[in-house]
Amino acid sequence: MSKDFTKLFDIWSDTYDETVMGTDPQYKQAFEHYDEILHAVAEQAEGHVLEFGVGTGNLTKKLLDKGLNVTGVEPSSKMIKKAKSKLPANFRLLKGDFMQFPSVGHVDTIVSTYAFHHLTDKEKAVALQTYAELLPLNGKLVFADTIFQSAQAKKEMIEIAKKNNFDRLATDLETEFYTTSAELINMCKTAGFDFTLIPKNTFVQLLIAKKVSTDQT
Ligand SMILES: C[S@@+](CC[C@H](N)C(=O)[O-])C[C@H]1O[C@@H](n2cnc3c(N)ncnc32)[C@H](O)[C@@H]1O
Repeated sequence: MSKDFTKLFDIWSDTYDETVMGTDPQYKQAFEHYDEILHAVAEQAEGHVLEFGVGTGNLTKKLLDKGLNVTGVEPSSKMIKKAKSKLPANFRLLKGDFMQFPSVGHVDTIVSTYAFHHLTDKEKAVALQTYAELLPLNGKLVFADTIFQSAQAKKEMIEIAKKNNFDRLATDLETEFYTTSAELINMCKTAGFDFTLIPKNTFVQLLIAKKVSTDQT
């Protein structure tokens, strides 16, 4: 596995659902329109859906409510426990991560929200190549995550966080692997995906990437 954020999420699992409601001023902007963002991801999903970074299961619930066949992958045991307490008993939730996960058979859509930034850009590129091999032609990746418009925009956001004394946010922005639109677009193209990026709030963009080529460059 890449850098291990599991301990952090084990600790956060009990209060995570409060944070996404906007109760923590430091993360309020990142979780603005949270429910609509998850809804937008679920709306794009079809067939057998593979979800990475399930967390407490909020996106999973929307996918299952749509009648989709979903397989979840999550590295944090505490998050798995929390998600299981909210989801149907027969839901398939596997321990794993973006890069190492059990074999899941045919997959039509791969989804993830607020999690892909746990991989470095190099790891993201490798993961996207793996997903291109896993998906059929026209299969989709639908990811919502913090993606900066540019390296400068990221730098400015860190400065704003520091000015506001948002120390935890500033540390997150400096130590996690938030990418830029240009980097992500390059990775998608190289892996053979056509893509659309739609801004959803100050931090989050929705990536809809469709596999259009079987040749990876
Ligand atoms: C901010 S939470 C998002 C949870 C949920 N997807 C949501 O939108 O509310 C990030 C989740 O990604 C998981 N995670 C961390 N590193 C990961 C990795 N390398 N691969 C997959 N999931 C990871 C965490 O354990 C956590 O459950």
